[in-house]
Amino acid sequence: MTILVLGGAGYIGSHTVDRLIEKGYDVAVIDNLITGHKHAVNPKARFYQGDIRDRGFLEQVFNAEKIDGVIHFAAYSVVPESMAKPLKYFDNNTGGMITLLEAMHDHQVNHIVFSSTAATYGEPKQVPIKETDPQVPTNPYGESKLAMEKIMKWSDTAYGIKYIALRYFNVAGAKADGTIGEDHNPETHLIPIILEVAQGKRDQLKIFGGDYPTKDGTNVRDYVHVVDLADAHILAIQRLIDGGDSDAFNLGSSTGFSNKEILEAARKATGKEIPAEVAPRRAGDPSTLVADSTKARQVLGWKPNYDDVEKIIATAWQWIETHPNGYDDK
Ligand code: UFG
Repeated sequence: MTILVLGGAGYIGSHTVDRLIEKGYDVAVIDNLITGHKHAVNPKARFYQGDIRDRGFLEQVFNAEKIDGVIHFAAYSVVPESMAKPLKYFDNNTGGMITLLEAMHDHQVNHIVFSSTAATYGEPKQVPIKETDPQVPTNPYGESKLAMEKIMKWSDTAYGIKYIALRYFNVAGAKADGTIGEDHNPETHLIPIILEVAQGKRDQLKIFGGDYPTKDGTNVRDYVHVVDLADAHILAIQRLIDGGDSDAFNLGSSTGFSNKEILEAARKATGKEIPAEVAPRRAGDPSTLVADSTKARQVLGWKPNYDDVEKIIATAWQWIETHPNGYDDK
């Protein structure tokens, strides 16, 4: 069984490739290495460097491989950057999806699992958020991914390409043995930034906004461990290959932590002081995002192993302590 993973050199992609190989799948990886790292890719996977928008390149890979299913991570994902550069997001994310689906249709590859996001919901009317809740993004990143979901829906109707959209909430942590982890440049995500302060690479954390309508005025997010998230992708692609229908699932822990609570958990996990101050709000941030992920547990049989945010942060800290400069390849 061969799975093609697009964006397999990225943070979530590389953990998924690793888990697919641990579970005995044959894996081919596509990544343009703009944000990904070659060293993050399990060496048992076949690696193709190229861009998802390059139809000729996709043609070569689809001709070389006999693909049973596709897991698609190859997209830009930084909310504030998308506010400044929306067209970059629609081009790579939404445009890339069209090229990929054309290649899949031409080669009769009819199963795709796709990295969607809680950002497709925008500012929720109620939390925890259910899959059936309205999707009204507050930033171009979320809008680009919502468009991708819709494109897949119509490709299913027209061509029978079955899809599962996995709407992630906030992802954190690293493989427990510390061999792969998160390495973004520049880093924009809360937990790795907090850990950079703990490492002494930054002077202090700036907490964006202290006047949100939440328990302590800071944004609330729902954190899931990257290996638990990886496992959900494998359950989803296997479900499609086994004849399952198109669907969408939230992936989160169903528990919300404020930015200040995450800071406290990181202080405990690292034993470091971690200076912080409240700064102005960041554009495009919804106040609270917490998942109702009952459906993933019931339908996919997803059972996350990590339910403690301090333990999730501890795995990220282990990766950073053993790889203080990440993959050190840029
Ligand atoms: N934050 C700070 N200071 C920082 C960095 C972040 O206070 O230096 C805050 C943000 O304002 C936000 C929270 O930490 O309140 C989390 O921010 P992240 O940038 O870590 O993550 P986001 O919630 O913005 O976005 C992440 C993913 C998206 C996904 C979203 C869904 O990056 O792809 O979660 O929950 F859509």
